[in-house]
Amino acid sequence: MPQITIGPQFFRNEARSYGNVKLAIARELLQNAVDAGAKHIDIEIASTADGTDLLFSDDGTGMSREVLENVFFSLGATTKNTGATTGGMGVARQLVCFCQRSYEIRTRDMLVKGSGADFDIIDGLPEIKGCLFRIQIAWAELDISPRELLDAFRSYLGMSQLTAEVTISGEKFKSWCYRRSVERTLSFGTVHVNKTSGHRNRLLVRTNSLLMYSLYHQSPVQVVLEIDPSRSREVLLSNRDSLKQVYREELDKFVQEISTDTLSAFRDNNAPKTQILAGNARQFRAPSSSVETYTETAMQVDCGPQGYVSANMPCSGIRSNSPVLSGYLEQHDPVTDGLVILTKTNNNAALVRASRLFTPANWNGVHGAKRRKLLLQWIIACEAALESFCRLTCTESIAWRPGFVIDPDMEAANQKQPDGSFALMFNPVECRDGAVYSIGNIKYKLKEWESTARLLTLAAHEVTHCHPDCKYHSESFSSKFTEIMADCAARLPEIHRAMVQCL
Ligand SMILES: Nc1ncnc2c1ncn2[C@@H]1O[C@H](COP(=O)(O)OP(=O)(O)OP(=O)(O)O)[C@@H](O)[C@H]1O
Ligand SMILES: [Mg+2]
Repeated sequence: MPQITIGPQFFRNEARSYGNVKLAIARELLQNAVDAGAKHIDIEIASTADGTDLLFSDDGTGMSREVLENVFFSLGATTKNTGATTGGMGVARQLVCFCQRSYEIRTRDMLVKGSGADFDIIDGLPEIKGCLFRIQIAWAELDISPRELLDAFRSYLGMSQLTAEVTISGEKFKSWCYRRSVERTLSFGTVHVNKTSGHRNRLLVRTNSLLMYSLYHQSPVQVVLEIDPSRSREVLLSNRDSLKQVYREELDKFVQEISTDTLSAFRDNNAPKTQILAGNARQFRAPSSSVETYTETAMQVDCGPQGYVSANMPCSGIRSNSPVLSGYLEQHDPVTDGLVILTKTNNNAALVRASRLFTPANWNGVHGAKRRKLLLQWIIACEAALESFCRLTCTESIAWRPGFVIDPDMEAANQKQPDGSFALMFNPVECRDGAVYSIGNIKYKLKEWESTARLLTLAAHEVTHCHPDCKYHSESFSSKFTEIMADCAARLPEIHRAMVQCL
């Protein structure tokens, strides 16, 4: 029966299927060494008359004659079908060996000399551990200078994190890229972020801490995506320069999220959240004329001279998921009705302190009174911003809850609640994460212009997020926020007065 012929050009073309050939050569050789359990890897690169000579050795398992003949020289075959290894596509030797000018492989008691599809195996040599590849890269075929190849290896290693010891030109490599802790989980891997150093604006897609490829993104942080090794063969394309479409779409969506909204993209899944929800959501209704509404409704409930608070305050059917709060809420305090307290920390002591300080049941005494007043100011600021929002977006009414968020990364937050309301929360204290999570003192000064202006700006920001097009800090968020803030700013003296006089 006639057979398919593989001509020399077939292998020459192989280099064309890689986005960055130099990095791909480094990746495939290093990956095979790691898969073979190497503890030491040595890389030497030299210049020859017509190209670059690459010497790559490792002390892994090496290859038996059977593996050489039936796997290495049988295209598509592989010894890796299990979870722990990275390879398994059964193609990389085409790039690292078959498409090059010539190659030699020294393993166990054998020496392979090959060029393209032709090879000879010489055996009976002294036994060695691992594998030594000598690859001749010809300038005529691949224009890679020794310096460029050296840089490619260094750059590749600098985006990976191997446990094996690697020496390049006799020098031990140390500049590994550490990924930090898990910040987010995708369906096929975990995402790690390094906000302070590393490869800013890059997303490093890795398996077993070895770089597969990298992407640019617009956020000034280093992001590492570690693909679950047991799924790498299912997720990656065979050239490892990209992902299969369904996974790429999930990653694209995530990249879009970090580019427009870095902090929010990494929130959520990490620290355990505690959320206390009390009472009912409030219904903010767009007033037909703001001045009328404020003064009229101020008459109905005695709370806040301008009526910002009282205008939209339902006090019926108060419930709570917190035993501490439910007792307190029996008093039907219109300020705390619907209150949300969100804390997000692994630190139990900080959690206990946060809920003790910001649970209204504990608000007796001078400090408690200050917290209640601050909440009242926040409610006034939110209602002022909601009024601008409703007018500018032609919204008739909006369900919302005031609240506190105690988190070192958050000044304020907007979180949609199961009842459909938006919890508009602000962080009243200085808190620091790290070795010691601390919750400091209240950072707002109730009577000062700077404080009320800041609360109003935060309220306008969070209220803007209520718009369906403004979930992230996107272009449409910025323009909507500017409109709402400008509208609030025009009423700033009036709002400031309401916030201060209510105390
Ligand atoms: N450094 C090495 N040490 C031991 N065995 C190796 C080494 N390099 C290659 N091999 C063997 O040669 C085979 C072919 O390697 P190659 O990189 O082409 O394919 P693969 O690693 O199986 O899959 P992939 O194409 O995904 O890399 C491997 O399956 C492995 O058995
Ligand atoms: Mg491989």
